[in-house]
Amino acid sequence: MRIIVCENYEEVSKKAAQMILSQVTLKPNSVLGLATGSTPVGMYKNLIQMNKERYIDFSEVKTFNLDEYYNLPRTNEESYYHFMYENLFNHININSENVNIPNGMAEDIEAECARYDEAIKESGGIDIQVLGIGNNAHIRFNEPTVNFEKGTHLVELDESTIQANSRFFDDIDDVPKKAITMGVGAIFKSKKIMLLACGENKAEAIYNTVYGKVIPEVPASILQFHNDTIIILDKAAAKLLKKEDYKTA
Ligand code: PGA
Repeated sequence: MRIIVCENYEEVSKKAAQMILSQVTLKPNSVLGLATGSTPVGMYKNLIQMNKERYIDFSEVKTFNLDEYYNLPRTNEESYYHFMYENLFNHININSENVNIPNGMAEDIEAECARYDEAIKESGGIDIQVLGIGNNAHIRFNEPTVNFEKGTHLVELDESTIQANSRFFDDIDDVPKKAITMGVGAIFKSKKIMLLACGENKAEAIYNTVYGKVIPEVPASILQFHNDTIIILDKAAAKLLKKEDYKTA
């Protein structure tokens, strides 16, 4: 794992966008694994700006999102489909046929999960996967549990995740209790992984991810075994790490 610590959120966002820029410059038809949540929003803003200034071209890029709420229509403002179009896709020159987000409204969820894994495989696999991390060290909706799930699957969300996500809904009872998520195995197959975390509330999850035992109770800990993972943090999220274990940006 390579770890870079930046001064603040703005610097993390810039650095992360530069990584995507390098990837897409080297391989214009890159397959990007994308994430929702508050953390990548700044990176998306930087990418939109770079695209406006023609530094980055998304016309051949393919994307796969990590997850979608179960049984929440795409038209709902809290769906991840809506989030991705609002925060990125509406503002860049991507071909919407190249955008992939699990369909949480599918009648046959098992078939939808299998279709999604197959589509990733057919695309040649994810070149770089962007990840956030939960306060409980979840990587997307792979919550702490007793085994690492391989493929895309339906999950029951942790109480702590429902609590954290309730900030986006009028009422905590409106937060969906289930979601479709790529499994840890599918995430792990990505050629590169870039995990972003900001804020003191992520410091313990980052500490456990970097130094802890590799166990499904700390889903992100599996990244210790991945041979091309970069973690980009602000100072607050890096607070518990030893200085010799990271570089500063
Ligand atoms: P956040 O979510 O970026 O909104 O903190 C991260 C996550 O839960 O994966």
